[in-house]
Amino acid sequence: MHTHDVVVVGAGLAGMRAAIAAHEAGVDVALVTKVHPVRSHSGAAQGGINAALGNATDDSTENHTFDTVKGSDYLGDQDAIEILCSDAPGEIIQLEHWGAVFSRHETTGKIAQRPFGGAGFPRTCYAADLTGLVILHTLYTVCVKYEIPTYEEYFVTDLIPDDEGGCTGVVAYDMVHGTMETIGAKSVVLATGGAGRVYRPSTNAHSSTGDGMSLALRHGVPLKDMEFMQFHPTTLSPSGVLVTEGARGEGGMLFNSEGERFMSKYAPNKLELASRDVVSRAEATEILEGRGVNGCVLLDLTHLGKDKIMERLPQIRELSMAFAGVDPIDAPIPIKPGAHYHMGGVHVDSWGAAPHMPGLFAAGECACVSVHGANRLGGNSLLEAVVFGARTGRAAAGYAQEVNGKGSQARPEHAVAAEAEIRALLEREKGPKQHEIRDELADVMQDQVGVFRNGDDLAAARQKVGELRDRFQNVVVDDKGSTFNQSLIHTLETGYLLELADCMVTAAVNRTESRGAHSRTDFPDRDDENWMKHSLSYLEDGNIRLDYSEVTMTKYEPQVRTY
Ligand code: FUM
Repeated sequence: MHTHDVVVVGAGLAGMRAAIAAHEAGVDVALVTKVHPVRSHSGAAQGGINAALGNATDDSTENHTFDTVKGSDYLGDQDAIEILCSDAPGEIIQLEHWGAVFSRHETTGKIAQRPFGGAGFPRTCYAADLTGLVILHTLYTVCVKYEIPTYEEYFVTDLIPDDEGGCTGVVAYDMVHGTMETIGAKSVVLATGGAGRVYRPSTNAHSSTGDGMSLALRHGVPLKDMEFMQFHPTTLSPSGVLVTEGARGEGGMLFNSEGERFMSKYAPNKLELASRDVVSRAEATEILEGRGVNGCVLLDLTHLGKDKIMERLPQIRELSMAFAGVDPIDAPIPIKPGAHYHMGGVHVDSWGAAPHMPGLFAAGECACVSVHGANRLGGNSLLEAVVFGARTGRAAAGYAQEVNGKGSQARPEHAVAAEAEIRALLEREKGPKQHEIRDELADVMQDQVGVFRNGDDLAAARQKVGELRDRFQNVVVDDKGSTFNQSLIHTLETGYLLELADCMVTAAVNRTESRGAHSRTDFPDRDDENWMKHSLSYLEDGNIRLDYSEVTMTKYEPQVRTY
C-alpha cells in the first residue's frame, strides 16, 4: 500500500518539472510512469525551447506573447500566454543552473538562439538538435538528487475519486509483476503527454497514447480543443520520424519537383519560417497538385555545409541517413507533413487545476491551458512543459497542504476491482485484436482527419471511430502472461486512443470554420463571430457531448494572419 501527498503520473519534462516544484514546496511527491523517465517522449524533441532572453537582439516577452497569440490563430488564452512568455527566461536560467548544456553563441558565450517558425526574433534556445533529451536528463538528475520516489513501469488504469468527486490517487498496473496497486494521494498531476499515436505515421513515441486525457475524461473532466492536431512540416516518409524545424531555422529551404522554392507563394515574408500550419498546408498543396517527389517535397540543407550540419544538426543527419537513406550534407531530404503535437488536452486553469475534479491537475501536452490555441509555435512545447509543469507542481503541493487533514488513503478496494476487470479481459478467448483496431483507427485518422479536412470525410471518420469503439468492447488479448504483458498494455492504450479519437472527430465535425491546424476545405475561412471559442468534450453514457467556453483576450485583437 502506497501513499504520498502528491502523485505525478508521467515522467517527461512536465511531470518531472512538476515533481521537482512540489518537492521544493515541501511535500512528499512521487512519480508514476509507464516507461523509465529518460525514455519519455520529451526526449524526442529536437530543435529547442523558446524564451525572449534578448541575448543578441531587442526581443521581449511582449514580442514572444504576440507571436504566440498570432500563431494560435487567436484561440490561445492571452492571460495564460503572457504567463508562458514571462516565465520563460527564468525557467531557461534555472535549467542551465541545474546543468542543461545549451549551445552557446560563438563570440559572446551566451546561450545561443536560433530562428523558428512564426517568431519575429531568433528566440529558440537549443542544445544542437537534442534539446528535449538534454533537458530530460537534466531534470532526471534533479529528481535523483531530491530522491523523489519513482514507480517505474507502472501503467495507470484509473483515478480514485472520493465521495465528493475529488481525486485521491491512482490505480496502477505493475508491469513487471502483473499486479494492481493503488497509490493514494491528496492531489494528482497528470503529465502523460500527447495522443499522437492516434495517427500513423506520427513523430510521437509509441507510448504517446493520451492515457491521462482519457483517465480524466472517464471521470467527467472535459477535454478542451480536441479537434486541433498539429502536422509538423518536416517528417520522414514513411516512418514519420521528425526532422527538426531547427533545420529551417539554420537556413534549410523547401523545393518542389520543379525546383521551385514554393514557400514564396504561400508566405512571402517568412518563407520556410512561417508557422507550422501554414508550411504544412503549402507542402500538402504542392503534393496534391502534382509537384511532389514521391509523395514528399525536398528539404535542402546542402548549402549549410558539413561543419554547420555536424555542429547544429547532427541527430537529424543520422536520422535522415538511417530512415531515408539520404545524407543531408550531400542531398536534399524528402519530407512531408506528419502528425506531431496535439493542442487539445485536459481542461485546466493557468495553475493546472481541473475545475471539474478537485485535487486533479494536469500539465504539458496532456493538458490544455490553453497557450497554443489552434496552432502551436515550434519551441513553445518544451517551454509549456517546464513553465506549467513548475506552476502545476506548486499548485498541487499547495492543494495537498490545504487538505492535509484528509490524509492520503490507498483505498485498496479499487485495485481489487481493477484486477477483476483485467482478469475478465484476459479470460476472453475470441474477438478482434487490438492491433487490427489500432491500425484501422490510424488509417482513418490519417486519411480523413489530416492537414485538410471536409465535412463528408469527418462525418465518415466519426462513424468509423464509433464502429471501432463498438468492436473494441470484445477485444481479445492473446498474451495471458503477467510479466511485461505488452499485448495487455497496448490493448488498454488502444481503449484510450479510441475515446480520444472520438473527441477529435466529434469536435472537428462541429467546428465549421478553418482556424490554425483545423483547415476545412468546405469552410475555408476563420469565423470569429461564431467560432472564437474553445470546444469542451465530455464523455457521457459512452458518447461525446460538446460544449464551448470563452477565449480569454487581454490586449491582442484578432487580425488577419499572414506570414
Ligand atoms: O521541430 C522541432 O524541433 C520540434 C520542436 C517542437 O515541436 O517544438
